[in-house]
Amino acid sequence: MSRTIPLSVPVIKGNEWKYVKECLDTGWVSSVGGFVNRFEDLVASYAGCKYAIATTNGTSALHVGLVACGITSGDEVIVPSLTFIATANVVRYCNAEPVFMDCNQDTLCIDTDKLRGFLKNNTYTENNTTYNRETKRPVRAIIPVHLFGHPSDMDSLLELSREYNLIIIEDATESLGSLYRERQTGSFGRAGCFSFNGNKLITTGGGGMVVTDDEALAKNIRHLTTQARSDAVEYDHDAIGYNYRLTNIQAAMGVAQMEQIDEFIAVKRKNAELYRDLISGITEVELLWEIGPVQSNFWYITLKMPPDHRKKLMKHLMSAGIQVRPIWKPLHQLPVYKSSPAYNISNAGVAHDSCINLPCSINISEEDIRYVTDHIAGYFSSSGNSVGKV
Ligand SMILES: Cc1ncc(COP(=O)(O)O)c(C=O)c1O
Repeated sequence: MSRTIPLSVPVIKGNEWKYVKECLDTGWVSSVGGFVNRFEDLVASYAGCKYAIATTNGTSALHVGLVACGITSGDEVIVPSLTFIATANVVRYCNAEPVFMDCNQDTLCIDTDKLRGFLKNNTYTENNTTYNRETKRPVRAIIPVHLFGHPSDMDSLLELSREYNLIIIEDATESLGSLYRERQTGSFGRAGCFSFNGNKLITTGGGGMVVTDDEALAKNIRHLTTQARSDAVEYDHDAIGYNYRLTNIQAAMGVAQMEQIDEFIAVKRKNAELYRDLISGITEVELLWEIGPVQSNFWYITLKMPPDHRKKLMKHLMSAGIQVRPIWKPLHQLPVYKSSPAYNISNAGVAHDSCINLPCSINISEEDIRYVTDHIAGYFSSSGNSVGKV
């Protein structure tokens, strides 16, 4: 029988069935219920934040986070070009404009040197507000993305945010449990956002969470996610709100998944180390690895290789039943974002051309990891493909 190794599938082996059944048995299936509160408390205390507000997904978490931080029509928000499109889309949902930044070629997260260059050369400050010299629009915020679980350079980002009065809203959708200077990603910005999509470290099927230490912000986010209802009985609404609340059934799954998070991260890290050991003899490739004072949750395993080989290696692996995928196309190159400002971007395209994600489910077996790395080695040892060091 031919073998298939999926890119990433969830592991559901704890109290998920029990807790979901409890929702069904009691009728608490919608967006009010004990599991929503429990899930929020668990994530808040895990992330080291005072408040957590559960949302329908990571995209809605980011969107409502931006709205609550005051991002509005005509504002600009700095976004890395190398990220999933949701990071930029939420800026457009606010009728604001993303300003795309390059990635660091080693970490693939936002290049803070280039960001500093942009802020120094391409902006001016008036009344404590930073303006883009070219567009004259106010630059209000940065959304750093902790790519594939690897934390961004938060020291530099915090310094720049202070210097230029920029709000940080962390896209920590992929990095629950990853640490920067031993502190949880998601807890550095004014708000941090997580995703519990089916392929994430923990899943609720679909779901998200905003975390913050700011009480007023938390209150406003909670208000906005429940249609901005100002009276619990009468149909009074004092703002344009959203139906962004997570359901109790999904939160029940989330509570059960949170009970296993330490084990999940330990397994992810062990699998990453095994991958790294097994490919260490293949001179053409290397794994995206931790750089600086960080600890990654290794949500996704990312393999770097010389650009000419990316498509051919993907084909080779997929024909052996190994599911892999390229990393995102730089957003500033997509037709919908071609008109948005982009600053001096060169690394993001190279990263797209030279990286793939390898199978990384929590329950992937050692044998399957060996099967994947054997096929990578087989590809590069076959005639014509060996090119030497990356
Ligand atoms: C970097 C990034 N941002 C935002 C999102 C959006 O999260 P969701 O799919 O839960 O809406 C995702 C996940 O898919 C993501 O990977």
